[in-house]
Amino acid sequence: MDYLHHESTHWKVFGTPQGIADGFSHDFKTLASGPNPVHIALSGGSTPKLVFDTLAEKYADTIPWETVRLYWGDERAVPPDDPESNYRMAKEHLLSKIPIPEANIFRIRGEEDPHVEAKRYADVLDAELPREMGAPRFDLIILGMGEDGHTASLFPTEGGLWEFPRNCTVGTHPETGQKRITITGRVIDNAKQVAFLVTGAAKAEKVAQIHYGTGNYRSYPASLVSPVNGELTWYLDTDAAKGISPIGA
Ligand code: 6PG
Repeated sequence: MDYLHHESTHWKVFGTPQGIADGFSHDFKTLASGPNPVHIALSGGSTPKLVFDTLAEKYADTIPWETVRLYWGDERAVPPDDPESNYRMAKEHLLSKIPIPEANIFRIRGEEDPHVEAKRYADVLDAELPREMGAPRFDLIILGMGEDGHTASLFPTEGGLWEFPRNCTVGTHPETGQKRITITGRVIDNAKQVAFLVTGAAKAEKVAQIHYGTGNYRSYPASLVSPVNGELTWYLDTDAAKGISPIGA
């Protein structure tokens, strides 16, 4: 069976990026409202920023944040107060505005040597998360997709990193050369739920290729996401979904 049309892959299309933020935040609240701790990996990117604003504005008082444990799927090799830091973005747009205990926040230390930090963070995931099939299992991993088809910091130029046999590794941005610490395929595909948040017409062609399994789609790390025992949901705005009519019509 073609996994692209696998029953555990869902496609949700919203009229606007704010529509995605509202729809996703609602799903986030449902996930985070159970009695048990939930382990969630955040990402950088423009759509997550909008989601963070929405969670902070509309759900600061209604999500039981003390049961939420936050991690990151990737981080740029910069200090936590750098404008490029994914942690800083989350802190400004979400963490500083919600009643979450400091002890529930597990940031990637972008200021450390990336290879040393990739090892340390892999150990953090091993220590903090429940395990399944020999690897840590997130309740939810939030991902974006770059215009080149990258996800987390797994770039098409470094195809082999997806299969890297550890929880975390170091990716290199193909244009800027910036080092980034990133989770790998074994962690992404071990999650209970993976959510892609993708907006804008610039992403439409790659979204369509991944959806239909056409063109060079296999070279885009985003196309490799296929949770073994979990669900994958693509949250798209109509611009990003315009190539997958009738869903995006
Ligand atoms: C990062 C991300 C990265 C991002 C995509 C999409 O740290 O940059 O985690 O994978 O999600 O590049 O970013 P946009 O939503 O801004 O296009």
